[in-house]
Amino acid sequence: MKSFAVTALLASLPTAFTALPDDITAVPLPDGCASYPAYDAETGTAGPWLIQAVNTENPAIEGFSDTNVYSIAIADRKPTIRWGYITIPTRNDIAKTRLQCSNNTLQAWTDSDLTPAGAPTNVQWLDLLLSPYPYDQPLMYKLGEGLPVKTFEHWRDGQKQEGVYLGGYDNATTWGFTYYPADQGSSGLDYYYMRLLGPDSADPSTGEKLGKNETRGFLRVVV
Ligand SMILES: *[C@@H]1O[C@H](CO)[C@@H](O)[C@H](O)[C@H]1NC(C)=O
Ligand SMILES: *[C@@H]1O[C@H](CO)[C@@H](O)[C@H](O)[C@H]1NC(C)=O
Ligand SMILES: *[C@@H]1O[C@H](CO)[C@@H](O)[C@H](O)[C@H]1NC(C)=O
Repeated sequence: MKSFAVTALLASLPTAFTALPDDITAVPLPDGCASYPAYDAETGTAGPWLIQAVNTENPAIEGFSDTNVYSIAIADRKPTIRWGYITIPTRNDIAKTRLQCSNNTLQAWTDSDLTPAGAPTNVQWLDLLLSPYPYDQPLMYKLGEGLPVKTFEHWRDGQKQEGVYLGGYDNATTWGFTYYPADQGSSGLDYYYMRLLGPDSADPSTGEKLGKNETRGFLRVVV
């Protein structure tokens, strides 16, 4: 029985993992929207565009672009959006969440509130910040206090890699992706939760660098 279980497990694993290159040098770009693609100097705004998971260890999400998931709170007996996260979907043929950089801040075009019946409403550009907790740093909206996102070039073997990459002020540009089944704030869709893997991103209680089922990859802006 035991060997059967092991064989079944091996058979269900993907045959090839896409490697995350470990010889990438992340070179920080200057702060501000001009470092993003599609910058308009007249408006000071770059975008809108999407971001895309690339060089992923989980081939199932390679090249997939961003969606978002929100957390629900009750305020004055009415449901509202407490905050939300930028996520990666489990299928790439669904509506995506547009991003831009404006007023020197990365922003997402998304619902900011819920109707009394719980339907998402009041779409607007919402600032995106990294959570201040180094062991759990998703890209979040409606977050009061957080850390700004930073842009980078990626270089490998003396070659600049295509595009602009997202990371943090500690020069980290690797993100962790963890599968979650659909919940109330995910529009009925499964998704991948996404967090920045900085120098202090290990689980503070176990010391584990990666969570269960968490795989790594980069985030690139796609025009
Ligand atoms: C632009 O950013 C500054 C500094 O973060 C903030 O004080 C200001 O309210 C922002 N302006 C707009 C129009 O969002
Ligand atoms: C990030 O990289 C830049 C350029 O390589 C370097 O000057 C800076 O000190 C680095 N910052 C940190 C926090 O490591
Ligand atoms: C691990 O992630 C895969 C998708 O990448 C998912 O199908 C599977 O259910 C996840 N396993 C657990 C235990 O969450």
